[in-house]
Amino acid sequence: MCGIVGYIGSKPAQEILVEGLRKLEYRGYDSAGIALCREGKLEAKKTEGPLTALEKRLQADPLTGHLGIGHTRWATHGKPSDENAHPHMDPGHQFAVVHNGIIENYLGLKEELQKKGYTFTSETDSEVIAHLLADLDDGDLVSTVRRAVRRMRGAYALAIIRCGEPDKMVAVRLASPLIIGVGDGENFIASDIPAILEHTRDVYVLEDGEMAVLTREWVELTTIGGDSVDKELFHVTWDAVTAEKDGYDHFMQKEIFEQPRAIRDTLAGRLKDGIVDLYGELSLAEEDLKKIDRIHVVACGTAYHAGLVGKTILEKWAHIPVEVDVASEYRYRNPLITSSTLVIAISQSGETADTLAALREAKKGGAKVLGITNVVGSSVAREADEVLMTWAGPEVSVASTKAYTTQLVTLALLGLHLARVVGTLGREELSDTATAMLRLPEQAESLLTDTVAIEQFARGIAGQENLFFIGRGLDHAVVMEGSLKLKEISYIHSEACAAGELKHGTLALIEEGFPVIALATQQAVRDKMVSNIIEMKARGAHVLGLALEGDTEVGKSVDEILTIPKTLPLLTPVLSVIPLQLLAYHTSVVRGLNVDKPRNLAKSVTVE
Ligand code: G6P
Repeated sequence: MCGIVGYIGSKPAQEILVEGLRKLEYRGYDSAGIALCREGKLEAKKTEGPLTALEKRLQADPLTGHLGIGHTRWATHGKPSDENAHPHMDPGHQFAVVHNGIIENYLGLKEELQKKGYTFTSETDSEVIAHLLADLDDGDLVSTVRRAVRRMRGAYALAIIRCGEPDKMVAVRLASPLIIGVGDGENFIASDIPAILEHTRDVYVLEDGEMAVLTREWVELTTIGGDSVDKELFHVTWDAVTAEKDGYDHFMQKEIFEQPRAIRDTLAGRLKDGIVDLYGELSLAEEDLKKIDRIHVVACGTAYHAGLVGKTILEKWAHIPVEVDVASEYRYRNPLITSSTLVIAISQSGETADTLAALREAKKGGAKVLGITNVVGSSVAREADEVLMTWAGPEVSVASTKAYTTQLVTLALLGLHLARVVGTLGREELSDTATAMLRLPEQAESLLTDTVAIEQFARGIAGQENLFFIGRGLDHAVVMEGSLKLKEISYIHSEACAAGELKHGTLALIEEGFPVIALATQQAVRDKMVSNIIEMKARGAHVLGLALEGDTEVGKSVDEILTIPKTLPLLTPVLSVIPLQLLAYHTSVVRGLNVDKPRNLAKSVTVE
């Protein structure tokens, strides 16, 4: 979703802003722009389309100055266009503002300002901020911003500069992420750390309702109301190169291949003496954990699919009933929440608006909330009562891969921990499961050593328009993720079906050569799955089967077969999803599409 960068220092700001925006491209955007302050004058350049379009414009007519703000926009109010791109300025070019989020009362404010003679040039809610600032201008950037923000309702992260004060910029955060980078004689504003990592590793993570005033020399943190805020600098330890492609053709490919390392990191320090131990991370006392009588999982997209696998794991190991909801549906269905409900919010970014809304609903209802997230200091991490980090490292590709597998491993760790506390698994089972989990990184690695067969199958389906994924039990949960992956990056229509449901409708669509991907890794339903495959074959389907190594049955009924290493059935999704991720990846490559940035999609969806 929208990305914000701001710079104040002694270097030319244009290049720093454009490079910062490039690091935020992964968030998804459809237009970009920057505004710089030079000799007390504000100038902006903005264009629809990729950053390269903006760069072209800047090459022809550069902006100079040492103070500026930049933005990548993902359209919400108003189509992608030059006019709707940020930064926005008031008619007198006194203020320039970039905004991430939605100003909910913008129509009322716009009407009020129009009556006063302000002319609007965009369809955005954001432009209203620039006009409001001009209207309330009292000659002081900070106090004007404070008064303007008091009039605004909604969710926002803002970076603002004023032509009359070329030595200052202001950042405000309410429900959209924003960080402040602290440098030597220069300071930065950004939506996310990679944007500024080249320049500094010391950052403040702004909380909701906080504001930062930045000059070259200092940063002052306050609440929007003006109370001073004291917080520690966060030192970033990961390397900038981690956020780059690292020799791979695409971020998605890199992130798929990072999974063995990511899973290792997720497990690190959490299995002590062969037994799960999350006591140091969870503050909930054993007695409170024992009181949990139901679990609700809320999440979106890939994280929701991880939740579906988590349901089976938690129910089987901890014997606690689990419901899984798409976060955008949760709060509108009036879920039954009590003080003995544990709500698990899963979110890679920790900033997904729907997941946060569901989390807040759960807290309002009196539930304990546990966040599973990949981003330290994210809203989910800060707002949940308990947090388990997935430690996957930055995920840049819009299509989520290593986030999913590490979410599964984190859910398995949680399931084991709960089982240990409530006593539903004995020491031997706990230890056997831990041993199996510790083998997952090496097993994942073995799946990545030879991908030729998958590449070949990808070439075969690249020309197709429709495809089915089928599976039973946990395989059904995994094919939902496989189907989503294929859809989002190859634009091939696909559906994930519970194999036992095929005969109730889907079978009607099968004709000669129709491609089907069938997962048969769950031993308990393997024979039933083979029957379903045979039903498909009988109608002419061309089936790629995925089975466990050593399984001699599935291969007999399919056209092509791939195998994965054996692990415990409940852990199998961590491995079985990998060939499906690779299949989606290679299909997208064969079709010549933008693998990392599929059309119409964003990495971090911070609006409802
Ligand atoms: C977007 C991304 C998906 C992701 C979903 C939830 O749709 O494109 O890859 O699964 O948001 O994101 P989260 O950060 O909450 O896991």
